[in-house]
Amino acid sequence: LVAPDAIFGEGRRNSQGHDLSDEATLARIEAARACDIPDAEPLTVRPATGTRVPVLNPASGDEVAHVLEADSETVSRAIEDARIWDAPAAERAEVLRRAADLYEENYGPIFATLAREAGKILPDCVGEVREAVDFLRYYAAEGEEATAAPRGIITAISPWNFPLAIFTGQIAAALMAGNAVLAKPAEQTPLVAAIAVRLLHQAGVPAHALQLLPGQGGTVGAALTSDARINGVVFTGSTETAQIIAGAMAAHMAPGTPLIAETGGLNAMIVDSTALPEQAVRDIVASSFRSAGQRCSALRCLYVQEDIAPHLIAMIKGAMDELRVGDPWHLSTDVGPVIDAEARDGIDSYTEANAARVLHRVWAPRKGHFIAPVLMKVNGIEEMEREIFGPVLHVATFRADRLEQVIADINARGYGLTFGLHTRIDSRVQEVTEAIHAGNLYVNRNQIGAVVGSQPFGGEGLSGTGPKAGGPFYLPRFFAPAPVPAGT
Ligand code: NAD
Ligand code: ALA
Repeated sequence: LVAPDAIFGEGRRNSQGHDLSDEATLARIEAARACDIPDAEPLTVRPATGTRVPVLNPASGDEVAHVLEADSETVSRAIEDARIWDAPAAERAEVLRRAADLYEENYGPIFATLAREAGKILPDCVGEVREAVDFLRYYAAEGEEATAAPRGIITAISPWNFPLAIFTGQIAAALMAGNAVLAKPAEQTPLVAAIAVRLLHQAGVPAHALQLLPGQGGTVGAALTSDARINGVVFTGSTETAQIIAGAMAAHMAPGTPLIAETGGLNAMIVDSTALPEQAVRDIVASSFRSAGQRCSALRCLYVQEDIAPHLIAMIKGAMDELRVGDPWHLSTDVGPVIDAEARDGIDSYTEANAARVLHRVWAPRKGHFIAPVLMKVNGIEEMEREIFGPVLHVATFRADRLEQVIADINARGYGLTFGLHTRIDSRVQEVTEAIHAGNLYVNRNQIGAVVGSQPFGGEGLSGTGPKAGGPFYLPRFFAPAPVPAGT
């Protein structure tokens, strides 16, 4: 075990988060419910131009606010204006810690924005702020004594499903290494990104070291990943987009420009006949349906040993019936909306096309972008077309003597993000975890919610390039490589 002080700096530990059973906290959250959410715009050194578009609430489809999406001139000017942050490392660390404190203090408007713009349920809002704060403090502690030089200008491109935590984690590491950062949030979630950048500026990050460039992936994202003035790209999102970015970088950037990409997964869990059924079911349901299944880490394909399958599947159906799907702001809600109409329609058409495989489905509101959690039968992971990014769990059964084949089938898909195992056989834990290809392995627990500092997160193969976020090898990638001494 590593003491938290060693990870986060003296007197520091993982953020404890906000307590949803505390009256005063709940009163502040309630007061923030109807707060005005400010429009977002590029936060650039020079005034920005672009196109004003509405940001929609995934639960209702209503407008939350507007965003000015940057045009190509604004992007180009931002690259020109970017300057590395040449303050001493200790000062940069202090500024990031101040930003972490500001995030924690401003939880009311942040929660309201996460709920209304991203459809996050309140426990997930707590988790987002905690993780973002942890990234800020963790990289501050990791880098405060560093003497290496920055790479230069880093493009940071993030997804909508962790619009505060991943957005902040990428920026925090790049800034802590002294780089200039150009941050492009996902199209769906520019509002919370703008709050975050305002708080980072308020904490003391210079305007020229951190600029926000909201906009479409195909325009702003493409421009920021195909410009020779950029010295590195950090990306989290789908495997397909990472491949496009890798191609653009190879065509337009200096050879050796690093791409750190954290991407999708086809995550599996194996439950053998020795597992504790109640514990396994709780962890299966959390891993598959928490955050409406919109986590890269979420369980997609469950393998249950055939001896216990009828009983365990009946228990899963029963637990699914207890899930409350609906208003993300309501404390009793377990599953909020999916991000937008396109996501809802894509998931619906997948389950409709495979209707014969549906074993169970629970109720969801018809209005808004809700998907009823679904359980589907497959013979194995090889039958799954792709990552379905929503509350859809596939279940297969296996015979005890086919375990090796199951592992081979999982590995053969080429992803390697998370993996779960429920068993009470110690030697099986050893055997399976050694054979499986996955960045994060979880035994007898759920497989979501990696904790910064103690559970570095990231995959292999089609799931990412590494290094793992929230781990000791991440920050060093943002420094320029040390020069090779003359004569070697
Ligand atoms: P996405 O790939 O569609 O978009 C991610 C970001 O890339 C967005 O900001 C988008 O605007 C931008 N983008 C799109 N096209 C681009 C282009 N041509 N050039 C540059 N940028 C471009 O992904 P998403 O739908 O926002 O997020 C869901 C995906 O992210 C899932 O596949 C999920 O598994 C993955 N994800 C992975 C992790 C991880 O840590 N491994 C974490 C969260 C999400
Ligand atoms: N880091 C996030 C999780 O572990 C994606 O669920």
